[in-house]
Amino acid sequence: MACTELTMDSPYVLELIKGGFSRVREDILQCKNCILHETVTNKVISKGSESPSVVFIGEAPGKNEDETGVPFCGRAGKNLDEMIEYMGLSDHDYAVINTIKCRPPENRNPHVTEINACKVFLLAQISLLDPKVIILLGNTAEKAFCRGRKLDWGEAERTDEGNMTLLKIFHPAALIYKRSRIDEQKSLIDKNRHLWE
Ligand code: URA
Repeated sequence: MACTELTMDSPYVLELIKGGFSRVREDILQCKNCILHETVTNKVISKGSESPSVVFIGEAPGKNEDETGVPFCGRAGKNLDEMIEYMGLSDHDYAVINTIKCRPPENRNPHVTEINACKVFLLAQISLLDPKVIILLGNTAEKAFCRGRKLDWGEAERTDEGNMTLLKIFHPAALIYKRSRIDEQKSLIDKNRHLWE
């Protein structure tokens, strides 16, 4: 099924939602919908609260995440932790998930077919987590979640359904090599604090 056709109301998404977090986890672990299952060590599902007010959507697991099964546990994760601290969120306030659950070989960008194959899990996770705010960490998360809609960096918008707020900020990995982005990222966060405070 093409990504643009898949919505929160699609039958498989509804079935996953009905089965709760354990069903989503089980189906991700069993999934062979794209070639990435052939090279994955550990599928990376989520970390954080099961009833967060903020959900961060990253891109794809990297080497550390593939080794441990934990999202954002490497260098980009350190930046994400610092961002979360700067935002003033505590552990029960947020969850972290990825657009795709398997590491692409050599950390290449995920292919559209892989994003589409994983989208059912992304939608089910968002529906179950039911946050007030979805923070898209960069363009891949936007591409997967926004069905072709482009957001401006740091400009909050409502989801099409109107029940959640979407905010696109820089991916934490983008701050590793361009340290000047850290201040820019902080301004994007400061401008939007009212969304989660
Ligand atoms: N980058 C991501 O987008 N996700 C991770 O889990 C790690 C690095």
